[in-house]
Amino acid sequence: MGGKIFAHRGASQLAPENTMPAFELAYQLKADAIETDVQLTKDRIPVLFHDIRLNRTTNQKGYIKDFTYEQLTKLDAGSWFSKKYIGTSIVSLEDFLKWVEDKPLMINLELKNHKIAYKHLEEIVLEMIEYFQMEERIILSSFNPASVQRLAKMTHIQTAFLTSKRRTDLVEYAQSLGATALHIQYRLLRGNIVEQSRNRNMPLRVYTVNKRRQLLRCFQKKCDGIITDVPHKAQRIRNLFRI
Ligand code: G3P
Ligand code: CA
Repeated sequence: MGGKIFAHRGASQLAPENTMPAFELAYQLKADAIETDVQLTKDRIPVLFHDIRLNRTTNQKGYIKDFTYEQLTKLDAGSWFSKKYIGTSIVSLEDFLKWVEDKPLMINLELKNHKIAYKHLEEIVLEMIEYFQMEERIILSSFNPASVQRLAKMTHIQTAFLTSKRRTDLVEYAQSLGATALHIQYRLLRGNIVEQSRNRNMPLRVYTVNKRRQLLRCFQKKCDGIITDVPHKAQRIRNLFRI
C-alpha cells in the first residue's frame, strides 16, 4: 500500500471541519489517519479548532483563547457549513482521544501555536496523550520552529516540522530543530526533497492535496502521507492505480 491518507480536519469537504461528524466520516471512509488542530481555551483546555478566531466557523465572534471551555461548548460549529449540522459543537482533545481510542486510526495533532504562542501547550497535550497511552499512534506537528525544538526535548513521539516556506536545506533544517518528520505544503514537493527526506530517515507528508492529479503525483513519488480534505477520493486513486 502507498502513502497513508490523512483526513485533514476530518473529512472536511463533507462535514464541518474539526467536528465529530467530520471525524466520524473520515473513519467510515477508511482514512488511515486524522489530522486536527489543537488550541487552548481561556481555562487552558485543549480543543480542536483551526482559526485563532471563532468568526468563520461558529456563531460567535472573538478569539478562542478568550472563551472558557464551558462557553465554547454552547456554540454552534456546524451551521456555517450546512443546516444539516446545526448544533454541532467544538470538540475537546480529551473527547476526541476517547472516541478514537478503540479505532485503528493514526492521529496527527497540529499544535496551532504559530500565531498565538499558547504557553505550555506542549506540556498540556503531552500529558493528555500520556493519559490515553497513545504515544505510538500520534504524530505531533507545528509551524512554530521553537515549539518543535521544545517538543524534541520533551518527548520521543514523532514530531513533524510543518512548513509552506521554501528553503534549499529544508530537510536538514527540520532535522536540526529535532523534528523526526517533515510536513510540507504541496508546492514544496519539488527537486529531490523526497530523496533527501528518505536519506535522512524523515517521513515526508504533504498538505493539503485535494486534486486528482496532485494526489496521483504524491502517491507516485511515494510520499509517506497525504493530508487531504477528500480521503474517499484519495482512497479511490490509491486503489485504482494500486499504488
Ligand atoms: O497539517 C497540515 C495542514 O493542516 C496545515 O495547514 O492551515 O490547514 O492547519 P492548516
Ligand atoms: Ca492543520
